[in-house]
Amino acid sequence: MAVYPIVLAQQNFTHQDSLHYPFEERGLQFGDGIYEVIRIYKGNYYLLKEHMDRLFRSAEAIKIDLNVTKEELTRLLLKLLEKNKMTSDGKVYLQATRGSAPRDHVFPIDTPANLYAYVQDLPRHSEKLKHGVCTITRPDVRWENCYIKSLNLLPNVLAKQEAKEQNCYEAILHRDELVTECSSSNIYIVKDGAIYTHPATNRILHGCVRIRVEKFANDLSIPFHEQAFYKEELFQADEVFLSSSTSEIMPVIQVDNEQIHDGKPGVITRKLQEAYEQDALITENKITL
Ligand code: PDD
Repeated sequence: MAVYPIVLAQQNFTHQDSLHYPFEERGLQFGDGIYEVIRIYKGNYYLLKEHMDRLFRSAEAIKIDLNVTKEELTRLLLKLLEKNKMTSDGKVYLQATRGSAPRDHVFPIDTPANLYAYVQDLPRHSEKLKHGVCTITRPDVRWENCYIKSLNLLPNVLAKQEAKEQNCYEAILHRDELVTECSSSNIYIVKDGAIYTHPATNRILHGCVRIRVEKFANDLSIPFHEQAFYKEELFQADEVFLSSSTSEIMPVIQVDNEQIHDGKPGVITRKLQEAYEQDALITENKITL
């Protein structure tokens, strides 16, 4: 399919056939920027408002002026789907950087932020969602501001690569044995009928799907505790699952070569998956401005 990205730079908004990054770009040279990955089901955004809110929170945290309102950006993102005649399941990658300027650690003066967005097809991970995935654990060596969706993903990339090299789907991260999240998703355990996950502090990314997991749990009267747990507790859990915009609500059936419980996706995970499907795929999510 032809891909028409949005490039919003220096106050200009254009659709182009291909995306070219400027030579001296702070996102490339310093990782000086932020991003979002937004899920699309049947040509419609899912959790768009949550992603917009987080993008603007991230921008504020690193002092990037996006030069665009949430409403204007939402309009551009809707146009992007229209322009690409998007009707399938997919995702939009949206990136904002501090702009193009001669390389200098200090912020450039009067340099507008660069915004890029493009859409891609992304079928659901049906088989994995049904059967669950294997994971490894790794120390969380990231910085203290993981609530910012920063472009600096080297520790995440390295952890995910290690998972891949061990034929696993994700790396579960822990700080001094206390589990934070995964390389690109949030993580949960179920014990005695209740869900536990790391509180939404600066140590984790506040996932958009995580917000929904809490809501589904409340709707289903399943206790949801924002209480961090130790790595050891993963192995004693009745169920383990992870969440993200691309992984949805994904059962974890193995951690560090050890089977979780009976090695099958658990009952509560299944209920949450059903609630997700209802919310994301059956409920009308069409956004208009
Ligand atoms: N990852 N934690 C981290 C470190 C993440 O990178 C992500 C998202 C999440 C889940 O956030 P959400 O529910 O809003 O997708 C948690 C995206 C999908 C990515 O980088 O590809």
